[in-house]
Amino acid sequence: MTEERPVFMTTEQTDPRADRAAGAAGEPPLFFAPMEGLTGYTFRRLHHRMFPGADRYYAPFVSVGAEQILQNREKADIDPVNNEGIPLVPQVLTNHAEAFVWACGQMARRSYREVNLNLGCPSGTVTARRKGAGFLADLDALDRFFENVFDGLENARSFAFAENRRTGRLRAARAGERPCEESGEPGALCTPPVVSVKTRVGVRDVSEAEAICALYNRYPIGEVIVHPRVQKQMYTGTADVECFAAFLENSVHPVVYNGDIRTAEDGRRIMRRFGACGEGIVGVGASGSLLPGAAGTAAPGRRISGIMIGRGLLANPALIRELRGGAKLSKEELEAYHEALYQDYSERMTSELHVLHKMKEMWSYLGERFEGGQPYVHKILMAKRGDEYRNAVRRIFAECGVQ
Ligand SMILES: Cc1cc2nc3c(=O)[nH]c(=O)nc-3n(C[C@H](O)[C@H](O)[C@H](O)COP(=O)(O)O)c2cc1C
Repeated sequence: MTEERPVFMTTEQTDPRADRAAGAAGEPPLFFAPMEGLTGYTFRRLHHRMFPGADRYYAPFVSVGAEQILQNREKADIDPVNNEGIPLVPQVLTNHAEAFVWACGQMARRSYREVNLNLGCPSGTVTARRKGAGFLADLDALDRFFENVFDGLENARSFAFAENRRTGRLRAARAGERPCEESGEPGALCTPPVVSVKTRVGVRDVSEAEAICALYNRYPIGEVIVHPRVQKQMYTGTADVECFAAFLENSVHPVVYNGDIRTAEDGRRIMRRFGACGEGIVGVGASGSLLPGAAGTAAPGRRISGIMIGRGLLANPALIRELRGGAKLSKEELEAYHEALYQDYSERMTSELHVLHKMKEMWSYLGERFEGGQPYVHKILMAKRGDEYRNAVRRIFAECGVQ
């Protein structure tokens, strides 16, 4: 694998974790995964308040095209006012380098120091446009994209961003031009954020991971979050931990593990193997092959720089606490959390139907926690009005135990 790494960022910038709290000594930090439609700011605020402990939340992607526009809904989701006190990393979905640099400017002026690029979304509508995991199908195009992105950010770093006062658009300012104002300080420069990547390990087959990893190694990416499934898998099958191990070993970047952590024991298994207290041992072929299950001598492994959890945290909002040895989720806590979420959505949304839709999506994960809960969850999902919904929820809490 090539070790060639263009260098243009300061040491401080290349470590997106420099200013953030981590878990106990020796343990990797734990992150809440972005989940479109589910982990928006209303949800994040509540989760952060009731179950503090996630070292970072990643916002669901904002989609940016050549026209360089953020929708109002997207602006609201990343507005620092709506995310006060929450360690948040915004995420961008695009295959357009200039648009990505523009989006970095938008995030910088909102004081974000890291922007995550989505190279993992497997949905057909996204991948058909060669975005998300679909971008992995054309590594030459992805290579050009990164080249243009890092060139663009390099320029932005030298020249600062200039803002068009009428449209609010940012572009790299020319020498002598008045730079944009950040944090209300006249003349302050916008520092381009660190770019991190959230990626699948291929489109069709995990054997693609080697070339993907080598491509990332050529650029000054701050961190790579690896969900070791291929795009065609969507969310079926299992995350390929062996492929992840090889990726970790071959990457020159800090690497975060993501995928299928549903219980505290799942998380501990990943920590034991890759994370905690120098126990990380990975089995990688002597050749460094990224093929899964490659036989070879076990070598002292690199440690992961974090663990990201998605669906497991929706099913058990206290999972991070449990993973750190804290109390298990109680039924009372879960009931209070559900009630607060329902109230928060009801206050923010004008239509009861929208509230029900949001809550039902949540139940497809939360439902797992209830012993014998399936018929009760079915009733919840079938509810057409608020009173029906609330009755069905009352029953599941009254009649089922929480695991
Ligand atoms: C409903 C849903 C929405 C998602 N939205 C995003 C997203 O906006 N950005 C992203 O990078 N990943 C997204 N993901 C993927 C998750 O962040 C995560 O990578 C995946 O669920 C695997 O982790 P887990 O097994 O811990 O859930 C989404 C997944 C689901 C199920």
